[in-house]
Amino acid sequence: MSGGPRPGPRAAAAMALVPVKRRRTAAAAGPVLPEAAEPGRFPGVVLCLVERGLGARRRALLAGRARAAGFCLHGPGSAAVTHAVAEQCSADEALAWLARRRGSTPGDRTETSTGLALLDLSWLLESLDAGRPLDIEPRHRLPVSGVTPSKEPDPAVLPAYGCQRRTPLAHHNAMLTEALETLARDAAFSGDETRSLAFTRAASALKALPRRLGSLRDLAALPGVGKHCRRVIQEVLEDGSSAEVEAVRRSERYRTMQLFTGIFGVGTRTAASWYQEGLRTLADLRATGPRLSRQQQAGLQYWEDLATPVTLAEAEAIRELVQAEAQRILPDATVTLVGGFRRGKPMGHDVDLLLSHPEEGREQALLGPLVASLEQQGLLLYQQRQPNTFGQEPSSSSMDQFERCFAIARLALPGAGDPGAWRATRVDLVVAPRSQFAFALLGWTGSRHFERELRRFAGRQRGLALSSHGLYDPQREMFLPATTEEEIFQLLGLDYVAPTERNA
Ligand code: CTP
Ligand code: MN
Ligand code: MN
Repeated sequence: MSGGPRPGPRAAAAMALVPVKRRRTAAAAGPVLPEAAEPGRFPGVVLCLVERGLGARRRALLAGRARAAGFCLHGPGSAAVTHAVAEQCSADEALAWLARRRGSTPGDRTETSTGLALLDLSWLLESLDAGRPLDIEPRHRLPVSGVTPSKEPDPAVLPAYGCQRRTPLAHHNAMLTEALETLARDAAFSGDETRSLAFTRAASALKALPRRLGSLRDLAALPGVGKHCRRVIQEVLEDGSSAEVEAVRRSERYRTMQLFTGIFGVGTRTAASWYQEGLRTLADLRATGPRLSRQQQAGLQYWEDLATPVTLAEAEAIRELVQAEAQRILPDATVTLVGGFRRGKPMGHDVDLLLSHPEEGREQALLGPLVASLEQQGLLLYQQRQPNTFGQEPSSSSMDQFERCFAIARLALPGAGDPGAWRATRVDLVVAPRSQFAFALLGWTGSRHFERELRRFAGRQRGLALSSHGLYDPQREMFLPATTEEEIFQLLGLDYVAPTERNA
C-alpha cells in the first residue's frame, strides 16, 4: 500500500464494491518466474515482486518495466533478494508468502535479521519514475500486521470540497486523472453534465493526493469517488490503461467532438449538431461556410495558431503590450495576468487579462478606447466586445457580467528569424471596478473546477452566494466587501489557498 492506513471498515466496504474477477484469475495463476541472469544497473539492489496482493498479470507487467529500467529481479527462492515489493499486504504476510515459495517457514528470515526490505509498491513505482532505486523512507515499508503506521498528511482527512484542498499543478496521479478526465469530457460531449462532474470530482481529488495512489484501498480516503470511477482506477492501476477509456479515445465521435469544441466559438451543442450532420473535419466545416458565426470563422481561419499552446513568455508580452496601451489611455490602469498562467501553468490556450483602475468608475472609460487603439495598430485579428450587465439583468449562469472583449491578437514573434513573423493568440480582456476586483481576480484565476467548488462551498456550507462580482449574504441582503483574495477566503471561513494550489 502506498501510505494509506490499514483498511478500516470504510475501506473494506469500498473494496467490496470492486469487481473481484481480475483478482481471482491472478491468484489462480502462480508460476515462479525464472530468475533474471543479468546483474542489473543497480548493484546491491535485487528485487523480488511478491505476487500476493499484486496479482500475476500486474506482477509480470511491473517486472517487465523494472527490468527495462535496469533493475535486477530474482524469484522468491533467491537468497540474494534485497527488496521485496508487495501491495495490499502486511510485512508478515509478505514474509509468509516468500517463505512458502522457498519451502521454509516464515521464521527463517525476517526483515531486520537479513536486511531484506519489505516494501510497498509505491517505492517501486516512484523508483521507476525516478529511473533509479530510491532511498527507502518509512512510508515505503509494509506495515507490520495489525499496526497502523502513522503517516501524514492522512488521506483519510482529504476534505470534501476542492476549495478546501491544495492542488498543485504537478501531482502524482496523472495516469488516473487523464483517464477520468477523458470520461468527464466524453460525458460532457453527450450533454450529461452530472456524470461529467462525477468524473471531474474524482480526478480533482486524486490531484490533491500527496502521493501516487498505490491501491484501491487508498480510495476509501478520497471523497466523491463512485463505483464507475473506482472500476476505471482499478483497471489503470492493474493494466496501465482502461479499456473503456481507450475505446472512448479511439472513437470517431470523441475525436471529432474534441476537434470541434477546440475551435474558438464552438460549444458542445454546436459541435454535437455538426457531428450529427456527418461533419468530421475542419475541411468539412470550411465547406459549410455561411452557417458559421463570425467568431467561428475567425476560429477556423486561425485554427492552427490557436491550437498551438501560448507560452508564459508570450502571455507576458501580451500583458505588457496591453498594459502600455491601457496606461496611455488611463495612466493608473492595472492589467493583471489571470487564468491558468496565474496558477503557474507554463502554457495555456489563451491569455486572460483582468483590467481595472484604482478609482471606482474610471475603469468604464478603458476598454472601448483600448480595443479601438489596438485595432488601429493592426494588433487585433478579431474582437467581440460585451457591455457590463451587472445589476441590469438577473445573472443567468455562473458566467459573470463584466464588460469584456474576446479577441484574437496578432502577436509579433521577434525571435523567430523572420522579422515579420507573428502568431494569432486568443486573448480575453475583462474589466472589473475596484470594489469587485478581488472577486474578479479570484473568479478569473480558476481552475474552473476550483471556482465551481468555491461557489458550492459558499452556498451549501455558508448560505452565501459567491460570484466574480461579490459575496452576497441573502439573510442580511447585502454584499460582503473584500479587497483581497485572502479576505474572501476569510469571509468564507476557508484556509487561504494560493493561486498555484488552485489547480483542482
Ligand atoms: N472564466 C469565467 N467566465 C468565462 C470564461 C472564463 O469566469 N466566460 C474564468 C474561469 O472560471 C476560469 C478562468 O476564467 O477559471 C480562465 O478560464 P480559461 O481561460 O478558460 O481557462 P484557464 O484555466 O486559463 O486554462 P487555459 O490555460 O486553457 O486557458
Ligand atoms: Mn486561460
Ligand atoms: Mn480564457
